[in-house]
Amino acid sequence: MFDFRPAADTPKPEAYRQLLDAARALTDGERDGVANMANVAALMWEFLPDLNWSGFYRMVEGELVLGPFIGRPACIRIPVGQGVCGAAAASGESQLVKDVHAFPGHIACDAESAAELVVPVIRAGEVIAVIDLDSPRTGRFDTEDRDGIEAVARMLADRI
Ligand code: SME
Repeated sequence: MFDFRPAADTPKPEAYRQLLDAARALTDGERDGVANMANVAALMWEFLPDLNWSGFYRMVEGELVLGPFIGRPACIRIPVGQGVCGAAAASGESQLVKDVHAFPGHIACDAESAAELVVPVIRAGEVIAVIDLDSPRTGRFDTEDRDGIEAVARMLADRI
């Protein structure tokens, strides 16, 4: 059994250090990328409060395709450049969206979603996937969340 949840009063940077350690431990030595994405999606869901979606889109033949996730069923294919995920894939830059309703072209998979953080996973200069987190709470994500998930993305780049 795995029980990685941090204590409720853990400061955010420390919680992200624990998340990174847990993600590294869970994926260490496992060469199946789908298994690793599935466990990290579940780990982020456990670690991070106020999420309604936690998961991955993978770059497949030039478009983003739904990967392992926790949450409601989601759109399967997202063209690069479209929506928050497509913007992250096109730019190679994380997208920190405090209010999705103010993001032009946001793709609503769950009407509950109010804030979103999308972080690209980059291997050898190419975006190979994005990590997508959604929250029903406007303003849920800040730069500490972005930095924490970027560290997870760097660690995962050669494990998915
Ligand atoms: N909102 C995303 C689509 C994916 S779902 O949130 C799971 C977007 O605009 O790209």
